[in-house]
Amino acid sequence: MFLKRYFRVKVQLYLLLYVLDSNLISSTEYYVNWPEDKNQAFPSRTSPIEIFSSEAKYVKTDRPLTFLADYNEKNILINTGKTASVHLKYSSESHITGGILYRDIYIYKKCRFFWNNDIQGDTRLRIDGEGTPLEVQMVFYNNKYNNFTEALNNADGLVVLSFLIDIGPEENLDFNDFENHMKKIKTTGSKVDIISGSVFGWFDEYFERSHYFAYPGDYEGCGCATSIVCVTRHNRPYISEKQFRVFQNLKNVDGEPLENLEQPHARHGRPLIYANTTQEILLF
Ligand SMILES: *[C@@H]1O[C@H](CO)[C@@H](O)[C@H](O)[C@H]1NC(C)=O
Ligand SMILES: *[C@@H]1O[C@H](CO)[C@@H](O)[C@H](O)[C@H]1NC(C)=O
Repeated sequence: MFLKRYFRVKVQLYLLLYVLDSNLISSTEYYVNWPEDKNQAFPSRTSPIEIFSSEAKYVKTDRPLTFLADYNEKNILINTGKTASVHLKYSSESHITGGILYRDIYIYKKCRFFWNNDIQGDTRLRIDGEGTPLEVQMVFYNNKYNNFTEALNNADGLVVLSFLIDIGPEENLDFNDFENHMKKIKTTGSKVDIISGSVFGWFDEYFERSHYFAYPGDYEGCGCATSIVCVTRHNRPYISEKQFRVFQNLKNVDGEPLENLEQPHARHGRPLIYANTTQEILLF
């Protein structure tokens, strides 16, 4: 009699523990599964967010994040009045894969720049409170979708990759060709043909070496992007103050100096990942 009762209590206790436990698992499930499973909704995905390295969860990946670029692809560089933007004329072979994208392949679509005309200032991107006056953002879409437009409707549709660029005393000779093209788009609406090599050639070598943060973000309100922020601290892409003037000289639709500042958004409990292909964690 006593034994039987003891048994029943114990079973109930186990059941209770089991229920508690499975609730716990299901409520944190998406934090555990992201970035392996990117096709899931979050309460908010507005980006960019303010990144604090102490809040990031470390993820070791087997392969480095790799960008494979075809330098001969034809693009158009345009002053939109809000940014300097580059988009491909035709479909692209250039793509990004590996790292937290695992085997998925995301095809290059466009890139754009964000800057602060104040050379001491920051763009919208800050890591541990620190930024730089120039940021480049590249946009890729998942090749499991037919095209960019279709990808916009899916939570794993896009990858938005950002680099902070240092402005310093040293000239970046690889920037010269891009600089010459930028001089031709001072006024809003002006555009010029440019090949991918001129656009990427001065920063894409910083790709495989970089450490990066990643989180579920958005792209112009789509809620469909994985945002990756490359954070190489001591070996960042750079241009000189003189070269930076091609951004400072751009004009918006009113003929005023163009710049595109924005406050970072709140994280709202989204996962924040710090990824690298090695075991070592050398955060700052
Ligand atoms: C994108 O793909 C969808 C589905 O195949 C198709 O209906 C649509 O017309 C395509 N859009 C463009 C811009 O090519
Ligand atoms: C990973 O981190 C190590 C040590 O911090 C660094 O030397 C290495 O370049 C990084 N690797 C990649 C692929 O980012």
